[in-house]
Amino acid sequence: MKIGVFDSGIGGLIISHALSDRLPEYDYMYFGDTARAPYGNRSQETIYEYSRQAVAFLFQQDCSLVIIACNTASAEALRRLQQEWLPSHFPDRNILGVLIPAAESAVSKTHGHIGVLATASTVESKAFEREIHKLRPEMRITQQAAPLLVPLIENDGQRFASPIIEAYVAPLRDTGIDTLVLGCTHYPLLKNEIQAALPEVTLICQDETIPASLANYLERHPERQATLSQNGGRRFCVTDLTRSVQQAARMLYGQDVQFEVLTLE
Ligand code: DGL
Repeated sequence: MKIGVFDSGIGGLIISHALSDRLPEYDYMYFGDTARAPYGNRSQETIYEYSRQAVAFLFQQDCSLVIIACNTASAEALRRLQQEWLPSHFPDRNILGVLIPAAESAVSKTHGHIGVLATASTVESKAFEREIHKLRPEMRITQQAAPLLVPLIENDGQRFASPIIEAYVAPLRDTGIDTLVLGCTHYPLLKNEIQAALPEVTLICQDETIPASLANYLERHPERQATLSQNGGRRFCVTDLTRSVQQAARMLYGQDVQFEVLTLE
């Protein structure tokens, strides 16, 4: 069986590529809901419903495990999917998100004050706060929504990023954070620019934390690992394919991606 990787769109290709690098032997199936992306400004109910459909599709395609690479979907839908939906629909499968590994990495590195940069929905959900406080209740956390960064990256606008990044990180800098979680699929592409704006701050990047966390999970769960086929297969599905999706995918994945286009019921 395969490892499914779900994202609202194509930003999750960064995680997908990082997983392929770290654990190349497994078979992966990527699903990006490009017809309905971005999710970052949608309501919780909508994000839950879209995520449920996507995860069900990946399970029907013989994925044993689905990683919700999208922070917004991890924040707004993962807990409910795991607790209310999975046990009655796919009791032998599992779903993992991207918030907990980032939260764990942040608490292991911080001196006490963590910043979170994410989409508006993720910030409003307070899901990062919840996960960090579960690990270390005394942590100080300052969140900042950065809604312009996803469209900027998808439109190849990194060269315009500096003043926008500065506007988002200035309030964080003023609060004195020492560690910053890049809590959105796309932000690893702006790692250098964000680090330049916050040179003293430790960045938590999910293209580093998620592969390490999956490797660790599979080691701790040999029964899950045993269900996974190891033929190095890669499939990429989207719900809408345009020239700009294809171009952005090349930039995010680092090479051309052959997509299958499908419709969800
Ligand atoms: N994938 C989303 C996330 O990580 C960003 C794009 C969106 O808003 O759908 O939060």
